[in-house]
Amino acid sequence: MSEENGRIKVALEGVPETLLWNLYNRAAEARRPGSRLLDDPRAVELVDRIDYPFERFGTAMAQWHALRVRCLDDEVRRFVAERPGGTVVALGEGLETQFWRVDDGRVRWLTVDLPETVEVRRTLLPDDPPRRRSLACSALDLRWMDEVGADVPGRDVLVTAQGLLMYLPERDAKGLIAACAERFPGGRFLFDALPRAMVARNQAGAMDPADGGYRAPRWEWGMDVKEYRKVASASPYIAGVRSLRLGRGRGPYAIAPLSHLIPGLRALRMSIVAVRFREETGTAD
Ligand SMILES: C[S@@+](CC[C@H](N)C(=O)[O-])C[C@H]1O[C@@H](n2cnc3c(N)ncnc32)[C@H](O)[C@@H]1O
Repeated sequence: MSEENGRIKVALEGVPETLLWNLYNRAAEARRPGSRLLDDPRAVELVDRIDYPFERFGTAMAQWHALRVRCLDDEVRRFVAERPGGTVVALGEGLETQFWRVDDGRVRWLTVDLPETVEVRRTLLPDDPPRRRSLACSALDLRWMDEVGADVPGRDVLVTAQGLLMYLPERDAKGLIAACAERFPGGRFLFDALPRAMVARNQAGAMDPADGGYRAPRWEWGMDVKEYRKVASASPYIAGVRSLRLGRGRGPYAIAPLSHLIPGLRALRMSIVAVRFREETGTAD
C-alpha cells in the first residue's frame, strides 16, 4: 500500500481483491441519483480515496449486490435490536461498511480477516476500541474466538460470513459453522452462498471475461436455495435454519422477493441463510 496525491494505492490479489469488487458495487448503487436500494456514504468515500482501476468490475451487478446487502443488514439490525450491546463477529469483512449502516451506539464489532486485508482495513477504517476492533487471522484459525471474550454469553454473539464461504471448501465452511455452534450456545450465524450452477460455471472458466475484464477467483462451494435446511446437518447444536427473502428491486429485479419460487430463477439466485444455535450444547440429541 502507498499514498499518492491523497489517494491510497491498494494492491491485493486473489480472494482478498474481491473485497474491492463488493465495495465498488455498494458505492455504485449508493451513488445512484433518485431511487436507490442502499445508502452507504462510507463506501462512496472509500472508492474515492482508493487508487485502483475499479472500472474493470463494471456496474452490472450493483443492484444484485445491493439487494444482498440490504437483506444481510436487516438481519444484523434484528440481532442488534434483540441483543443490545451484543457482539457481531464479521469474518472475511474486507472493506464492508456495515457497522456504520447498522450501528445503534452499543453494538460491539470484531472484524476477522487475512493479514493483508486487515492492513488495508486498518489504514482506511482505523479500529475504534473497545467497540470496533479488527484481528488479522484466518476465519479457519479458531483462535479468533478467544477475542470475543469468555464473559460474553453465546446468545449475545452473531457471527457473519458475508461473501466468504464460497471461497472455502464445503468441509471447511460447514466445520466453521459447527465450531461456532459449539462455542456460542444460543448464538447465530449469517452467511450467503452462491448457487451450484454459478459455481460450476466459474470453475469451468465459463464466466471469464473475453475482454481482459475482471476475472473472479475460483469459487469452491455452492448451495442452491432449496438446500438451506441441509445446513442443519453441519452440527447437532444447530436449533434452526432460515432462508431469507430478498427485497424488491427495480426493473427486472422487482421480482427478487419471489425469485426462490420461480424454477428458472431459483437455480440462479444466491441464498442468504440465518442459522440459530441451541442454547445448551450439552443437550443436543
Ligand atoms: C468477497 S470479499 C467479501 C468482503 C465483505 N465481507 C463484503 O461482503 O464486502 C472476501 C473476503 O474474504 C476474506 N477472506 C478470504 N479467505 C479468508 C479466510 N480464510 N479467513 C478470513 N477472511 C478471508 C478476504 O480477505 C476478503 O476480505
